[in-house]
Amino acid sequence: MAKARSVYICQACGHQEAKWLGRCPGCSAWSSFVEEVVTREAKSAVEPKRPESLVRLKDVPFDGTQRQSTGIPELDRVLGGGLVKGALILVGGDPGIGKSTLLLQAVGKLAHAGHTCLYVSAEESVQQVKLRADRLGLAPEPLYLLAETSLEAVDRARAEVNPTVMVIDSIQTVGVEAIESAVGSVSQIRAATQHLLDVSKRQGVTTFVVGHVTKEGAIAGPKVMEHMVDTVLYFEGERTGPYRILRAHKNRFGSAQEIGVFEMDSDGLRAVDNPSELFLSQRASGPGAAVVTSVEGSRPILLEVQALTTPALYGAPRRVTVGFDSQRVAMLAAVLERKAGLDMAGQDIYINVAGGVRLSEPAADLGVVLAIASTVRQVALPADTVFIGEVGLSGEIRASSYLASRVQEAKSLGFARAVVPRVDLERLKGPPLDLPLVGVLTLEEAMVEASLTRER
Ligand code: TYD
Ligand code: MG
Repeated sequence: MAKARSVYICQACGHQEAKWLGRCPGCSAWSSFVEEVVTREAKSAVEPKRPESLVRLKDVPFDGTQRQSTGIPELDRVLGGGLVKGALILVGGDPGIGKSTLLLQAVGKLAHAGHTCLYVSAEESVQQVKLRADRLGLAPEPLYLLAETSLEAVDRARAEVNPTVMVIDSIQTVGVEAIESAVGSVSQIRAATQHLLDVSKRQGVTTFVVGHVTKEGAIAGPKVMEHMVDTVLYFEGERTGPYRILRAHKNRFGSAQEIGVFEMDSDGLRAVDNPSELFLSQRASGPGAAVVTSVEGSRPILLEVQALTTPALYGAPRRVTVGFDSQRVAMLAAVLERKAGLDMAGQDIYINVAGGVRLSEPAADLGVVLAIASTVRQVALPADTVFIGEVGLSGEIRASSYLASRVQEAKSLGFARAVVPRVDLERLKGPPLDLPLVGVLTLEEAMVEASLTRER
């Protein structure tokens, strides 16, 4: 007889307690505990590790170069060069961002190339999926659809069609029957993920799992799964805008810094081959805009940073940012105040990275600082110049990695000049770069090069 036991699980972070608590000790969320019943049988839903998994390292039959292209190059890039057999991949993102569309397109292409695929739709009927496939212009063989919410039924279907690639859409709507908790609860998601992990590894089925996340991360599911799966991809972007960015958050089979850029159209997602061109296509002219570079994985991308300042009316001045760290802006403002003599303490600062990209590289500092200075001075920065470099607390311009590839990307987009850290310029090896480079040591020098101060 299976013994039932109650545990209380925080739905925000997955923390477990024997008793209900008002506030989670794990993540400080209020009223996040939900009682979940665990039966002994729940454990046996996960098969024990088999002794035959013991092998010598040299006998492991794995060839990392053997990757299957999904037929969508941007997706392949983010996956680290294509699909690895038996990988479990979580695709997270806001509801409605395009996860189902992306994965249906991927299995459509894979099936077209002759791979058997199984698309499990636990949210939509097979008619709805068919309607979407028609809209996407997909009529591939051999692609099987299954509208089921029980993983046991999924297992039976899988055994029948023996797919190479499987999609579970979504983890919040499928469940293991042996577990009594509601579908979508933390223990269900955990058990379902463990089950899928086991299946994908044992049967060599590459499995995509869709997970919805809300802006506040209120649905714990994907967070709980992150450490269990091989790869975590997040699909981001403004639902109202056309652009979507697929970002690797974790990847056991490749770099976790790659991004793929897509455009959502009436007939599905289209890969954007040259993101820099796209991000710069609606460049603002006038004060407050600077072009910076960001190396995303293996690829440099050019982006526009916009800054706006207004007099701070109440209390502490605000630093509001979209796509950039606000703490870093506070720091850069302090440097501007002390090293360039601009009054930043009395100004609210707003920073926006155009195109919905998140800039996390220090090499963008110089552009951000100059964009702020440009809006304060009401002088536009030279439109043909890219700014590269990290800004230190004493106003020094510090080295950035991958200078050559950043400059090359700027050159290919028609820029005429790059302002770069002088330390990098001196260290630069290899063939001469085909773009005039101006090396700067300090913020003061950079301000002169950006025509924000007259030379002394
Ligand atoms: P969907 O893939 O259902 O999102 P998710 O699975 O992440 O919840 O995408 C939903 C949105 O995409 C919906 O608002 C309609 C839009 N869309 C298009 O603009 N073009 C298309 O070809 C498709 C299939 C969807
Ligand atoms: Mg969907």
